[in-house]
Amino acid sequence: MNEQYAIDIVTRNAEETEAAGRRLGEIIRDTGARPFIALYGDLGAGKTVFVRGLAAILSPGSRVKSPTYTLVNEYPQGRLPLFHFDMYRLRDAEELFDLGWEDYLDRGGVCAVEWSENVWDALENPLVVAIDRDPADESLRHISITGGRYENLSL
Ligand SMILES: Nc1ncnc2c1ncn2[C@@H]1O[C@H](COP(=O)(O)OP(=O)(O)OP(=O)(O)O)[C@@H](O)[C@H]1O
Ligand SMILES: [Mg+2]
Repeated sequence: MNEQYAIDIVTRNAEETEAAGRRLGEIIRDTGARPFIALYGDLGAGKTVFVRGLAAILSPGSRVKSPTYTLVNEYPQGRLPLFHFDMYRLRDAEELFDLGWEDYLDRGGVCAVEWSENVWDALENPLVVAIDRDPADESLRHISITGGRYENLSL
């Protein structure tokens, strides 16, 4: 991870978090990057909301639902598919491989992964989107984006 290029923003509601996701989606679209995005944040932090913004750009017309039970949802409407994973219910990397994880990687889309820390500590060069609640205000979120090759990223 390259802390030098860390981006920190504060959002006041879900719409602003979704807009931050759209902005990152535009950068991914415009650079043709295929990053692995690891989303960190506790239950209800706003990870899925952020992915909704990503999908608005990378797979226009998609209706993003949480993949909590399906483990992965695919959004194929864009130039590259967007794969949205939720690994909350996985316990180890073996379950991840049962899911066909490597097939998804081989298909060359953009992967956005919630709860990747549950199964795999060392994802290859992830772009990390960390969403933290503000202790003083229940609708504020602190979002930091670090890693990857996003030195020109500005939200
Ligand atoms: N600033 C904000 N940014 C994002 N969501 C917010 C914000 N303020 C309030 N919310 C609310 O917080 C909730 C975030 O839900 P979301 O499903 O995105 O969380 P999550 O991080 O994906 O949780 P889980 O780990 O359970 O999947 C939504 O109900 C949203 O309306
Ligand atoms: Mg979620």
